[in-house]
Amino acid sequence: MTAEADPNLIVYFGGQYVPLREARIGILTHALHYGTGVFEGIRGYWDDAEHQLFLMRPREHYERWKQNCRILRIDVPASPEELCAITLELMRRNAFRTGVYVRPLAWKCAERIGVSIDDQDAFAVVALPFGEYLHSDKGLHAGVSSWRRIEDNAIPARAKICGAYVNSALASDDARQSGFDEAILLNESGHVAEGATCNLFMVRSDDLITPPITENVLEGITRASVIGLAFRELGLRVVERAIDRSELYVCDELFLTGTAVGIAPVVRVDHRPVKDGEVGAITREVRRLYFEAARGHLRAYRKWVVPARLSQIEPEPQAVSLAEASVI
Ligand SMILES: Cc1ncc(COP(=O)(O)O)c(C=O)c1O
Repeated sequence: MTAEADPNLIVYFGGQYVPLREARIGILTHALHYGTGVFEGIRGYWDDAEHQLFLMRPREHYERWKQNCRILRIDVPASPEELCAITLELMRRNAFRTGVYVRPLAWKCAERIGVSIDDQDAFAVVALPFGEYLHSDKGLHAGVSSWRRIEDNAIPARAKICGAYVNSALASDDARQSGFDEAILLNESGHVAEGATCNLFMVRSDDLITPPITENVLEGITRASVIGLAFRELGLRVVERAIDRSELYVCDELFLTGTAVGIAPVVRVDHRPVKDGEVGAITREVRRLYFEAARGHLRAYRKWVVPARLSQIEPEPQAVSLAEASVI
């Protein structure tokens, strides 16, 4: 799904809360020409039972955003706590009663010609109602793309750098034109990197396997959540290692993870069924746990979610460290 925005939505832009239709940038803006921006994506899940909107790990998203802005020497002059507070204010001003997607964006804002960067930075936060991004209940058909994942020494894939998303857009468009639901990109060494907008996990012999963050993948927060849930709640061995393309054809289960896609099972790859072509048991369980956690239903993971109607941010969520999850 793509989210069309209501021009009357209230967004945070230029240090103020303004209607979306008034949040405009100039045609010569550096980031528009050269891709010199860094964005984030945060989900809010509406829970009918509690009549509450829960933001999923907002502080971690803002920490990652600020960290990744350093790659482009963009300064966001607000702390993660202040950014969480801005986001909660947007929830309140827009009176959302549905799932939402929050899109923070920081960019090089000088209006001039010339690729070199300076210290003129701007940032905005937009939140809009958002449903399912990929209809993945029954499982997706993914295709390995002929586009390769960008290399760290060209454009770092670990950050959500605006210009880097040309790579995702080309792969995603190509996959859809070819009848696939999503693209899987290989890196320049021929190993599986990730989907166009999501990380990838494979199950083989009851091990949960995902490429390490040095394989040109985005350092996904959903990926970290899944690693923690799989290890602690399902007792799975979680392994970070390079994945060959042909392992996608012989694995037991395959799924994609991301803020927008959630946990999306893949049941066919390159016209071959994954195992028996059905959503696997581990995938189903990981998906269930993740969405329970995201709606604040799992007590142990309640620290991951921030209820939108509170004026106070809850205590800092614990980062899921790979060491903690005993990843091999
Ligand atoms: C290329 C790419 N990989 C992975 C992800 C998943 O990251 P996260 O789980 O932090 O949303 C995204 C999210 O947008 C992405 O764009």
